[in-house]
Formats: sequence, structure tokens, C-alpha cells
Amino acid sequence: MADTPDETPRGNKSVDAIRRYYDTLGEGEHDRLTKDVAGRVSFEIHRRFLVPYLTRNQRVLEVGAGPGRFTTVLAEHSARVVVTDISPVQLHLNEVNVAAAGFEHAVEARHTLDVCDTSRFPDATFDMVLAYGGPLSYAFEREHQALAGLLRIVKPDGIVVASVMSLWGSWRARFPGATQLAIRYGTDVTDAVIRTGDLRHVPGMVHVCRMFTWEQLTTLVTECGGEILAGSASNWASLEGPDVLAGIEESPQLWERFLAYETAACASLGARDGGTHILVAARRRRWARP
Ligand SMILES: C[S@@+](CC[C@H](N)C(=O)[O-])C[C@H]1O[C@@H](n2cnc3c(N)ncnc32)[C@H](O)[C@@H]1O
Repeated sequence: MADTPDETPRGNKSVDAIRRYYDTLGEGEHDRLTKDVAGRVSFEIHRRFLVPYLTRNQRVLEVGAGPGRFTTVLAEHSARVVVTDISPVQLHLNEVNVAAAGFEHAVEARHTLDVCDTSRFPDATFDMVLAYGGPLSYAFEREHQALAGLLRIVKPDGIVVASVMSLWGSWRARFPGATQLAIRYGTDVTDAVIRTGDLRHVPGMVHVCRMFTWEQLTTLVTECGGEILAGSASNWASLEGPDVLAGIEESPQLWERFLAYETAACASLGARDGGTHILVAARRRRWARP
């Protein structure tokens, strides 16, 4: 399998391209977890995965916080949050939305921050680092630097909670579009994407990221000195049948029951590669702690 000729932006150029993407997307990112029923399931799966790790008065660094859906969840659980993102536009929207929700008092500071460079924070500074929605999928060849940096700045018993884009699940979720791309660009491009998870191999792709398998993600955590506490897919059962899901959502009891089943299915080992995202909770391995 040959790699495609490398005309894609790498290193800092990738960071700039993704910042521009999210600056331009603006409010569009705010709607991702509310506009359709699959998005609302994704929000609930991410929220339910996070909440068991939240105790009162934690100091949390949120990386790639975007427009603030999870900043608000953290604030609802009385966390003090340092909100960060690579995109100044998303940081501004975060301020607007968190203030509108009445939680601005929970925000200690807001900074532009690349997930790959947390050097401004001393070791063992935070009770938790939250990196939902793919900041680690935008680190590309610097993913070890990024995750090791997040594990460094949590306290010895602190937790890193993150989600990345899923390789096999994205294929499942976007089967027609992915198949069209495979036909259009041929075997070399398709092989390169499957082998590396890196969408920068697709010519002209605007929203690029690195997708992971559960095995690759757990290997990354281990290589960065971490140990896995829990994992989950997002949207195992709920990628298809939006009409059926909409019907379920109309009944609070059915919706709650469905979300409980979906949360259990997503957490099972057999499903972890099957949703749009892969969620992970990790901490520093004991021997790797200062
Ligand atoms: C899909 S959004 C997720 C927003 C929010 N965490 C959520 O889950 O709803 C991804 C966010 O990561 C940010 N981001 C992308 N690359 C990043 C990087 N290298 N470092 C930090 N944040 C990054 C984007 O600007 C965007 O706000």
C-alpha cells in the first residue's frame, strides 16, 4: 500500500486549518449536539460518561471547549473551569453561551490553547482535564505530546476524560459518503486513511482529523504513561432510524429507558469501535506519578 503524495497541511499548518474551520463554523458547532436526535443522544452519552467523575469543587481544565455545552455541565456540578480552545471564535461563543446559562461565575479563565502545548500549566494542577469532541483527533503526529501533556497536569488521582473520532464507527455512520470518496480517490487513498485514520490523505478534505480505533486509543494512553479507567462508544444503536428515535424521544419514560440501554451498549467492549466517537477516562499509571 503506497501513501498518497503528501500535499496536505501538516504540523502548525494543520492547526491553522482547523482553527480556521472552527472560526468559520461559529454557531454551527453549538447546534451539533441539539439539532437532531442522534446529536442529543451523543450529548447524553458524553454527559453520562463524565458525571460519575465529577465531585464538588473540582478544578477542571477544559480543552477544545467549543461553544460550552460541557462547560455548563461542569459548572452544574460546581467545578471551577479553565476554559480553553484553539479557536478564538469558539471561545467567544463559549463566553456568550455560558453567561446566558447563568454559569459564568464557574469560569476561572479563558485562554486560546493548542492541546499539544499545555506547558504553561505546572505539573499536577487540575483535578480533571476534559477534552471532549476530538481535540486529540486534531493533534495528528503530536498526539503523544498532547496526551502526555494532559496526563502531566492532572493531580496524581486526577482524571483525563476525552473523546476522539472513531475510525470504524465513522465509516458506519457515513457509509454512503465514505464509499463515494473511496471510489473517487481509489485504493491508495482509502488504504492510507484506513491504515492511519488520518483524513488529511483525502485530497481537498476541509474538515480533517485523525480517527482512532479503540485499540489504537488504548495503546496511545499506555504509551503516554496512562491507564484506562473506562471506555465507551457514542451512538451505538442510534446511528440509524431517526424517525423511530424521534418517536421514542416523545415519551420521557421511553427516552430514559432507551438512553440507559444505549449507554450500556456503548460501554460494552464489543461496541466501542462502532459509534461516531470513542470516549475514554484515564489517569496516570501509579509508577508514572510524581
Ligand atoms: C467538535 S468541537 C467540540 C466542542 C466541545 N468540546 C463539545 O464536545 O461539544 C471541537 C473543538 O476542539 C477545538 N480544537 C480543534 N483543534 C484543537 C487543538 N489543536 N487544540 C485545542 N482545541 C482544538 C475546536 O476549535 C472545537 O471548538
